Amino acid sequence: MSFDAPRSTWSSRWAFILVTIGSAVGLGNIWRFPYMTGAQGGSAFVLVYLLCVALVGLPLLMAEILIGRRGRGNPVSAMLKVAEENGASPWWGALGWVGVLGALLILAYYSVVAGWIVEYTYQAIAGVRILTPEAAKQGFADLQANPLRLIFWHTVFLALTVGVVARGVLSGIERANLLLMPALFVILLFLVLWGGMVGDMRTAWHFMFDFKPELLTGQVVLSAMGHAFFSLSLGMGAIMAYGSYLDKRASIAHNCFWIALMDTLVGLLVGLAIFSLTFAHGLEANSGPGLVFHTLPLVFTHMPGGRVVGSLFFLLVLFAAWTSAISLVEPFVAWATERLGVHRAAAAWGTGAAVWLLGVAVCLSFNDWSGFKLFGLNLFDQVDYLTSRILMPLSGLAIALFVGWIMSRKNAQDEIRLPAAQFQLWRQVLRYVTILAIVLIFVYRLANPDS
Ligand code: PFF
Repeated sequence: MSFDAPRSTWSSRWAFILVTIGSAVGLGNIWRFPYMTGAQGGSAFVLVYLLCVALVGLPLLMAEILIGRRGRGNPVSAMLKVAEENGASPWWGALGWVGVLGALLILAYYSVVAGWIVEYTYQAIAGVRILTPEAAKQGFADLQANPLRLIFWHTVFLALTVGVVARGVLSGIERANLLLMPALFVILLFLVLWGGMVGDMRTAWHFMFDFKPELLTGQVVLSAMGHAFFSLSLGMGAIMAYGSYLDKRASIAHNCFWIALMDTLVGLLVGLAIFSLTFAHGLEANSGPGLVFHTLPLVFTHMPGGRVVGSLFFLLVLFAAWTSAISLVEPFVAWATERLGVHRAAAAWGTGAAVWLLGVAVCLSFNDWSGFKLFGLNLFDQVDYLTSRILMPLSGLAIALFVGWIMSRKNAQDEIRLPAAQFQLWRQVLRYVTILAIVLIFVYRLANPDS
């Protein structure tokens, strides 16, 4: 049974680029990418990352949007439709399910981390001062030890996210991105300028871009590749769902180029901004995940104009996380509205309720349930591992196999519409290089179980 209501289409090509950048730019860019760059080889890491984006990320981004637009439906229906058109087994529909359900799993922990960001945004705006490194660490530990506070902020963030999706593709998702993304870019530019004026931009530049080939190991290549998947929102139905609302006339390749470029640029610019401020205060930049929660609140307390800059920074992270989270809800909501005929608002809030419950368990895994571990990992790490280490690359591999080997060349070209040589280049990279790279990731992991 199918309820084929007329589908929305983004109001312009720019709207599509903006919402997709909204999905791509998120906690991954701001929380992880700058730190990884500094700690794992500077410009050598950036180079490896760019290679991963060019050879794996970009071809897959195009393939995912291609399926979404060709199938013109939620990820499950789109996969089924495109499989049928190419005479392939309906089992390929399972790939749509991996994306739709994987996205909800990611959201369950993404929303918890974003909840911490809401708390820190609130603290920054309220002018809470964090005077010593010990106080910064204690503040974060106290938050993690307090299940009610974690659940409260997780609830607030998830409600914000679901509220947008419930309003619809154009008046919810597109409108929110058209407001939040330009604001994000303005804040980012302001922070970079401010970092250049009062921070130590030179040291930040060296930290991020000095060529340190000795730091480049198989492990680093692995994390660059993993990060390319996460950062470009690949394999989880989000991009496929957004692609399904793309106008038939728009060029997939051009749009993808801009999306991948902007996603990388944002990570690099955020890194320069926050490291220049961090170094200006003589603080260490390699505190990893603690960078945003331990180091930066300290920096903002001690710098001129810190309350304004700190508030803007956390708002930037919040906006980035919010627009990414929205894209994690949409695939399932699109499926429920199109396949079950459920009203969009009911589908969105129902989905939110299920994710909320799982998120509550994730909140508890930091405190009351911290003793419950599987393979040495708490629930938070398990869900992160399952989604970003297993589901995303596996689903990426399946998408590359499908579009590269199963989908007819004619159908693919009909949708991608590139000049013959460029089309050929993309297709061959997808068929061989992308597939080989992902297979190598898994082989490397099997050979190095601790990686
Ligand atoms: N790309 C987002 C980030 O960098 O934070 C995370 C993400 C969003 C992953 C949507 C997967 C996804 F489907």
